[in-house]
Amino acid sequence: MKHEIIITAQGHKGTMERLQDEFKAVKLWEASDRDAALRAASHIRGLAHFGHSKVDGKLMDALPRLEIVSNFGVGVDQIDLEAAKKRKIIVTNTPDVLNDCVADCAMSLVLNTLRKFPQSQDWLRSGFWATKGPYPLTSSLGGKTLGVLGLGRIGEAIAKRASAFGMLIRYHNRSKKNVPYPYDADVVTLAKNSDVLMVVTPGGAGTAKLVNAKVLDALGPEGYVINVARGSVVDELVLLKYLQEGRIAGAGLDVFEHEPKVPAAFYSLDNCVLYPHVASATAETRKAMGDLQVENLHLHFAGKPVKTQISA
Ligand code: NAP
Ligand code: 8YV
Repeated sequence: MKHEIIITAQGHKGTMERLQDEFKAVKLWEASDRDAALRAASHIRGLAHFGHSKVDGKLMDALPRLEIVSNFGVGVDQIDLEAAKKRKIIVTNTPDVLNDCVADCAMSLVLNTLRKFPQSQDWLRSGFWATKGPYPLTSSLGGKTLGVLGLGRIGEAIAKRASAFGMLIRYHNRSKKNVPYPYDADVVTLAKNSDVLMVVTPGGAGTAKLVNAKVLDALGPEGYVINVARGSVVDELVLLKYLQEGRIAGAGLDVFEHEPKVPAAFYSLDNCVLYPHVASATAETRKAMGDLQVENLHLHFAGKPVKTQISA
């Protein structure tokens, strides 16, 4: 017998195929009448979530038999964890399997933002190498300090890579860790002590606009911001203004506040490098994330403990 689940959105192809093969799946995003679809699904115990739409108390109330929300992705800022806890709904995510890919992407943003490789390629493609001469000099990584805001699973993988590039590491978390890197007790101090501020905390209310004007002032005109966390963690419009006015040296961004919308003013800036939220987007990593999402659902329906439960 196939267990029934509800899928909230179109997601990774291979995982969608598995979910639809291995479960009897309701595709919520295809419903012409969402409320009617939810009423018809009110007996369903499992939900597979993709993307950034909200899984809130209202959705949980519409599914009164819901026992598990299995998220594709490590970040669960779109899921109301308190509401799930109140209703004794298990929430799972996909940690660790994406650490290396996300850290690779973060390092590529450090490299591309400081060394301006994409901009130098544009220079060549525009014919300027021949007409205007060599591309202007950029900034080295070696010897610079990378301040990791959120030294967790991914933050540690980034720190390891950055050390291999000759960077010095320091960090700020709410709690000090047993790691060989210096700790700064707050984000402003971390920014003051860093050349490159690497943002890799979770999103959500606890970190909203944590990187604000005060932090950017502390980083200063020679400093860079890299964000692979969530757009919500950085005050995007303040960052834009600081980039336009040269009040920080540059930014490398994989995430934005209102994805897939990106303020168009970023496009014309030479001092930032922009990616469309691709940090975990390799075939291997997306498969591993999907396998974990599916496995958590199977384990739960088999009455076993899930592999990666989030607690509120
Ligand atoms: P993690 O292991 O939980 O690490 C998060 C770190 O952030 C922890 O060390 C935590 O330490 C710190 N932190 C949390 N709240 C903080 C606050 N208010 N101030 C300072 N530090 C804070 O999570 P992870 O697996 O590394 O993932 C981190 C995040 O990366 C995800 O939640 C997701 O949003 C983002 N992400 C993005 C992509 C992408 O495609 N761009 C891919 C994967 C993940 P304390 O608890 O001690 O504060
Ligand atoms: C994915 C992510 O892009 O894991 C996360 O938190 O942000 C990324 O790995 C996202 O989950 C896909 O929807």
